[in-house]
Amino acid sequence: MDGNGRWAKARGMNRSMGHQQGVVAVREITTACSNLGVKYLTLYTFSTENWNRPADEVAALMSLILTSLEEELFMKNNVKLRIIGDLSRVPDVVKQSILGLQERTAVNTGMTMVIALSYSSRWEITDTVKRIAAEVAAGSIKPEEITEQLISSRLATSFMPDPDLLIRTGGEMRLSNYLLWQCAYTEFYFCDTYWPDFHEADLLKAIEWFNRRERRFGKTSEQVEAQKP
Ligand code: IPE
Ligand code: MG
Repeated sequence: MDGNGRWAKARGMNRSMGHQQGVVAVREITTACSNLGVKYLTLYTFSTENWNRPADEVAALMSLILTSLEEELFMKNNVKLRIIGDLSRVPDVVKQSILGLQERTAVNTGMTMVIALSYSSRWEITDTVKRIAAEVAAGSIKPEEITEQLISSRLATSFMPDPDLLIRTGGEMRLSNYLLWQCAYTEFYFCDTYWPDFHEADLLKAIEWFNRRERRFGKTSEQVEAQKP
């Protein structure tokens, strides 16, 4: 979700107002995805690198996270919340609130909304390697038992499949330390629209684009054609 700051600047507002408008877009897109039957929607909300922003912007973002995760949105849409990221850096009050919401929405059976908060892929992979190394040191797994599946099962995202489609708004064409392991075969969709201006119609455009992709997973087009039912 990129472009909140530039959206605000273009209107002579401060950056925090862009983030506030970004929350409105989150509500619209969450509801749209849930209605479309999307199973997992992951939102890159705050990166490890975002801790380096000016203190007042970080504080504004944290309090926005605290006030904008409304239980009603989750319950109304039957959405389950999951958090991924280094929560040891997140203020206690925010941490308690989101973990409480994660617990209370666990009963929901519809879409899972994953919030990547204080998240970066390199943090996640480093943390995972440490935990696997500890398992090896304790003798519960052997080095030769470390497979791609085992690594996936130890990542913060172990509960979800790899993403089919990644959408980055705001015109930048980079991954910015996001789900590097998980995006090996993800389709990447970039658009210039700032996140607060990203509406359901834009989401549908991205999904239509996705539906026209031929996903070969390293195979040839002929092989993929032959495998079609
Ligand atoms: C994305 O908007 C939201 C967060 C990173 C929290 P930005 O804040 O990156 O907006 P721009 O890129 O400055 O426009
Ligand atoms: Mg940005």
